[in-house]
Amino acid sequence: TVEDATGAAPARRTVRVPPGVTVFDSASWNGIAIDSTCGGHGTCHKCKVRVEGSTPISRHDVRTFSREQLDDGWRLACLVQATRDLAVDVPPLTTRPKAATVGVGRQVILRPAVQKRYVELDEPNLADQRPDLARLLEAIDDLAPKPDLHALRRLPHVLRAADYKVTAVIVDESLVDVEPGDTTDQRYAIAYDLGTTTVVATLLDVALGTPVAVASMLNKQQPYGGDVITRISATMMDPETLPRLQQAASATLVELAEQVCREGGVDPKQVYEVAVAGNATMTALVLGIDPEPLGVAPFVMSTSQPPTVLAADVGLELHPRAQVFFFPALGAYVGGDIVAGMLATGMDRDKRVRLFIDVGTNCELVISDGDRILSTAAPAGPAFEGGAIKCGMRAADGAIEVIRLHAKLDPPSAEEVAQSTPPSVEEVAQQPSRDPNPVELGVIGDVEPRGLCGSGLVDAVAELVRVGLLDASGRFIPEDQAPTVAPALADRLTKIGEERVFVLHRPHPEAAPEDCVVLSQRDVRELQFAKAAISTGWTLLLEELGLEHRDVQQVLMAGSFGSYISPAAAVRIGLVPKLPVLRIVSAGNVAGEGAKMALLSVRERAGAEALLQEVTYVELSDRPDFNDRFVDQLGF
Ligand code: FES
Repeated sequence: TVEDATGAAPARRTVRVPPGVTVFDSASWNGIAIDSTCGGHGTCHKCKVRVEGSTPISRHDVRTFSREQLDDGWRLACLVQATRDLAVDVPPLTTRPKAATVGVGRQVILRPAVQKRYVELDEPNLADQRPDLARLLEAIDDLAPKPDLHALRRLPHVLRAADYKVTAVIVDESLVDVEPGDTTDQRYAIAYDLGTTTVVATLLDVALGTPVAVASMLNKQQPYGGDVITRISATMMDPETLPRLQQAASATLVELAEQVCREGGVDPKQVYEVAVAGNATMTALVLGIDPEPLGVAPFVMSTSQPPTVLAADVGLELHPRAQVFFFPALGAYVGGDIVAGMLATGMDRDKRVRLFIDVGTNCELVISDGDRILSTAAPAGPAFEGGAIKCGMRAADGAIEVIRLHAKLDPPSAEEVAQSTPPSVEEVAQQPSRDPNPVELGVIGDVEPRGLCGSGLVDAVAELVRVGLLDASGRFIPEDQAPTVAPALADRLTKIGEERVFVLHRPHPEAAPEDCVVLSQRDVRELQFAKAAISTGWTLLLEELGLEHRDVQQVLMAGSFGSYISPAAAVRIGLVPKLPVLRIVSAGNVAGEGAKMALLSVRERAGAEALLQEVTYVELSDRPDFNDRFVDQLGF
């Protein structure tokens, strides 16, 4: 429940986040502002929320709240983890922040490119015939903006109609408009994460640094193919496809802009700026630039830094002078979305050895040792997005996303407990007591399982490896050994035709394997290829820096899919280095967070541009040892 300071009826919002994310980050990622001056580090004690049901109390909570308040559910939002469904009351903001918390605990001092200044000017008379523009510019001479024709055209009328009480609108040092009266508290911008599959828009109040509304939808380019390669191929086969793809991308941006403005009660004409974080292909397509060179060797971009364009150039009907900033790209397959993600995670500001992994059809990897930053791309294929997987589907209602297997149904021995994969926080929350069902499933939307999404695929394989039904080479063990290895699960190991499968969900006890949700031997192979591509990538990057697996101090799992993978399962299958699970962090939608940062601070935007010089792109595909290394990484 979110109250606002106007005292209007509180709004109710339901959001879905990876397990273990704090309430503070969950809110921030979903456009809900919570008071803070410390950026979620537990020191300002301002992020007060009321959580229903029993919630752990931290020592900071004890210092902040009275006994009655604690009993009533009051907690600091940055210290409460979402490990189960939570109902949270969020009070209105009490302070006007000078900084905003964005990305992975990044504090951004507000310095937006959009500035407004309210002035009351002297009316002209015969003794004071200064031109209108000079009159206005003298009143705001500290900002020294360059006048723009649009502002100049509006100036004479607006000055006189508003009795010379006007607000000057300055964007990126240009005077773009004059508005009647005082509109200084109406400064908005839209941050887009332009994904190949999903597009997310956040309407930001750049005066406060807070999100106003968030909306997402599937990219309307979907009918032209699920990944960038099929969309590039589509443009190569039919010259009419490029304008259609551009139109589809533009229609997606427009629909989302309308939605967030409607939800936020904001006039689109008061949206003065836009930032777009997209991969190189999505950026080229929305700008109507031929993407063909991105799809064929030697994989060349038309530009690493697209020019700033008018919002109207990409079909957006916002303020007539609103501009769109596109994030620069490091390479054809390490695009502006990854640069935005680096900004949001502070990859260039941390002295620790950190590995950033954005898992998808194309997996981007970045590693920093506090001194050098290297990046590369690994072609992981469609497995993580449910493609090429027998019962694969997108992470939508009915998708199995968490799997827990019990090899035996009698209580586990102390040794088994010691050896088992620690369950994820979500699993613990969902299954506090041991269920007699040997296959426990977490299903999106709590409905009948229909298929398996990427995080479910990783979990299924990790669990089958753990209980011993998959061997280290990724093969299902012989059927006659299954009753000894995992008696409670042996009847689940069966065949469809000649292919061996493991039954994850039977709709009814007599259902034939063909009618069940299964994991097939081929699915396991697909996942092995995907994870081997990724682990070969980070292994080679670590070698380039002269580091070993155990030197990595933090792994950031980014992107709409990566954020939902269970850290324990990722370690077990070798998708990430073998590290304690606490070093593996769900980073959320960091591309969108980076886009927000670029709108809230011109310094951060300059930081994104500077990353082009700071990051070295490493091409792996032409390395002579790549194939051998890839084969080494296939096993579990
Ligand atoms: Fe400062 Fe929680 S955000 S204490």
